[in-house]
Amino acid sequence: MSKITILSEINNKKPFIEDLPKINHKEFDKVIKSRRSVRVFTNDIIPKDIIKKSLDNSLKAPTSSNLQTWEIYWIKSKNIKKKVVEACLSQPAAKTAKELFVFVSRPDHWKRNNQMMLDYLNEKKNPSVSVLKYYNKITKLAYNQGFMNIFGFLKKLYVSFVGLYRVIPREPTSFNDMKVWSQKTTALACQNFMLSMRAYGFDTCPMEGFDSFRLKRILKLPNKAQICMVIGAGKRDPNGVYGKQFRFDNKLFIKEV
Ligand SMILES: Cc1cc2nc3c(=O)[nH]c(=O)nc-3n(C[C@H](O)[C@H](O)[C@H](O)COP(=O)(O)O)c2cc1C
Repeated sequence: MSKITILSEINNKKPFIEDLPKINHKEFDKVIKSRRSVRVFTNDIIPKDIIKKSLDNSLKAPTSSNLQTWEIYWIKSKNIKKKVVEACLSQPAAKTAKELFVFVSRPDHWKRNNQMMLDYLNEKKNPSVSVLKYYNKITKLAYNQGFMNIFGFLKKLYVSFVGLYRVIPREPTSFNDMKVWSQKTTALACQNFMLSMRAYGFDTCPMEGFDSFRLKRILKLPNKAQICMVIGAGKRDPNGVYGKQFRFDNKLFIKEV
């Protein structure tokens, strides 16, 4: 397996400078602090442009290898919405939501997206050789698990042995690892979406209390697709938040080592 120099080398051959806007951190803190899981929404509509902007913002989340193995289903049909609410165990957060979104991980889309990335790079005048190599070789080695996971298994043996002597990326070596890989990316899109909605004055509730089998059937998704979260959104009802936000002591979770 070739050494992944693209990850260890600093690229100063073609610097790309992006303007950094001034940010009011107090406004950001307000968004973070006021985001709550809202279980009851009012009947107020969410303007379409706010939804579109928030969906757009969700897809600005970081994504592993920039392979974007996510999908978002904005449930517009009344009939499908009714079925999705049922699949969400008729939770109030789904039942009263003005809009429902299903965030889906698509680990099975990595190959398609990898090819789209190569097409995009090859259309450029001077594509970076190391980036091309990354999508031509590294991602294919990393994310291919082969027929019946045989290639994944061989990779696992290889990394276990070579890893005794040098630093080596170890996962993914199975479709289960691929699910975790893709879910991480999709969960970040969920968080961007929820924060964006809050910033525009609306609220959300993430849900994993659902029947994934039925939900996949309703959305005509294949077996390999994974539902990450269903997110209900709308205007917060005064009774929509069930209590003060509670977290255990930070010291339990933040380790300075
Ligand atoms: C992955 C995930 C799944 C969740 N599933 C549900 C759910 O099915 N129903 C629900 O009412 N809340 C659900 N929640 C919301 C949590 O209960 C909530 O985030 C937690 O109690 C903390 O409250 P806060 O979001 O208001 O800070 C979920 C949250 C996450 C991150």
